[in-house]
Amino acid sequence: MTGILIIDDEPGIRRTIASILEDEGYRVHTAEDAVLGLEILAGESISIVFLDVLLPRLGGMEALEKIRTGWPGIEIVMISGHANVDMAVRAVKLGAFDFLEKPLSLDKVLTVCRNALAISSLREENRDLKKNIRFSEEIIGTSAEIEAVRALIKQAAASDARILITGENGTGKELAARAVHKRSARAEKAFVEVNCAAIPENLIESELFGHERGAFTDAVSSRKGRFEQASGGTLFLDEIGDMSLSAQAKVLRAIQEQKIERVGGEKTINTDVRIVAASNKDLASECRAGRFRQDLFFRLNVIPIRIPPLRERPADVPVLLRAFLQSLGLEDLVLEEGAVELLEAHPWPGNVRELRNLAERISVMYRAGDSLSAEKTADLLRKNPEAFGGSVEKRTAGAAEIPPLPGKIMDMNLTEAREAFEKYFLEFQLSKNHGTISKTAEAIGVYPSNLHAKLKKYRIAMDGAAVHNGRKER
Ligand SMILES: Nc1ncnc2c1ncn2[C@@H]1O[C@H](COP(=O)(O)OP(=O)(O)OP(=O)(O)O)[C@@H](O)[C@H]1O
Ligand SMILES: [Mg+2]
Repeated sequence: MTGILIIDDEPGIRRTIASILEDEGYRVHTAEDAVLGLEILAGESISIVFLDVLLPRLGGMEALEKIRTGWPGIEIVMISGHANVDMAVRAVKLGAFDFLEKPLSLDKVLTVCRNALAISSLREENRDLKKNIRFSEEIIGTSAEIEAVRALIKQAAASDARILITGENGTGKELAARAVHKRSARAEKAFVEVNCAAIPENLIESELFGHERGAFTDAVSSRKGRFEQASGGTLFLDEIGDMSLSAQAKVLRAIQEQKIERVGGEKTINTDVRIVAASNKDLASECRAGRFRQDLFFRLNVIPIRIPPLRERPADVPVLLRAFLQSLGLEDLVLEEGAVELLEAHPWPGNVRELRNLAERISVMYRAGDSLSAEKTADLLRKNPEAFGGSVEKRTAGAAEIPPLPGKIMDMNLTEAREAFEKYFLEFQLSKNHGTISKTAEAIGVYPSNLHAKLKKYRIAMDGAAVHNGRKER
């Protein structure tokens, strides 16, 4: 059932909208202010939020921003009084779906709600389509490091020599392998990829060399293996470091003799393939550890191409991001001051794939003409699901994404400095946890009552901003 949240401090308004929508079969939640509303959003699946412009504690405009970044899929309908229609209009410019003016009309509430739901499902569809976007197969980047890789690819493509591409996850090994093929004399023939890590040990021989009918129980017909499929073209042996020693022996033989036999077959078949192998492991040390055959390593490593991790070529980060955003229709997104620096300082454990994921996230949350602040960038980097292992939060939870402390702290005495830091720290943690006391307290390991006392001491409002003379300081 579609979930709807109404945030308004007037009980009458909450009751009216709730009863209209409940009659229509929606699941309705209500909150009297935005801080409570954000807590509901954290725990419930909500599609539409009706949000009052004027609210105590956390204002409607700030709440709008928090909801838009925290829950990009939600459509927000502002509710305004006659006196503050201009704010509602501004909210729509900032990404709210529409606004309703008090007094509310039953028809309008229903129409806006239906329209918002229709838009939200369109957006979802659009997002799914974007997932299938084909990014260009060009190797993008302007750093000296990537220039060197491009030059090496060009040079290597001109020969038939075997190539071993190494680099961390997501650095572009497969992209490089395809680039070699495309620029080679074999470009018109097949590029056949084998993911050596994904094929079970007992199937690898038949996968690579094929089999004859009846060779084993499941072999109901004969089948060409990858070597044969790649005939005249390029065979890409991906993740070769994960191949078993026995399979390595068979590959070595196929390379040395340039002949193969299908499993269960009698005749020898000549092969004409160019081999490009890739691994994220250091194969030389795998050899020393006895996990990789040295003779095969030498055969494969005729032209080594090492693709440096992204953190060794930070100059490529903004260039790649721009290119990805362009493919996603967001070429005019403005990167505000400080955002690029944060991106360049990020360690990118998932490399270019991680950066591409970030661009996709941005494209979901932002629209043409929006701008991306340094603060949002830090937030996105912290939350960016990483391409492998999924533990990016742990590995990157460090200096990069936290804004620097005010420099004047160094001129204070210890008590002042400690308090300045504590206040700064609490504000940051509170805003990170959407102003929720209980979550913040848990995250930083103190009791909620303790945190409350500290917030009072430092006059920090619930949304993380300090309060002076009863007014929020922004
Ligand atoms: N220099 C680059 N320019 C443009 N796109 C790139 C570049 N490097 C990588 N990519 C893109 O990043 C993603 C990951 O690249 P790719 O699959 O080639 O990496 P990989 O090294 O094979 O990763 P893995 O080790 O995880 O298999 C792909 O979508 C690829 O198109
Ligand atoms: Mg790969």
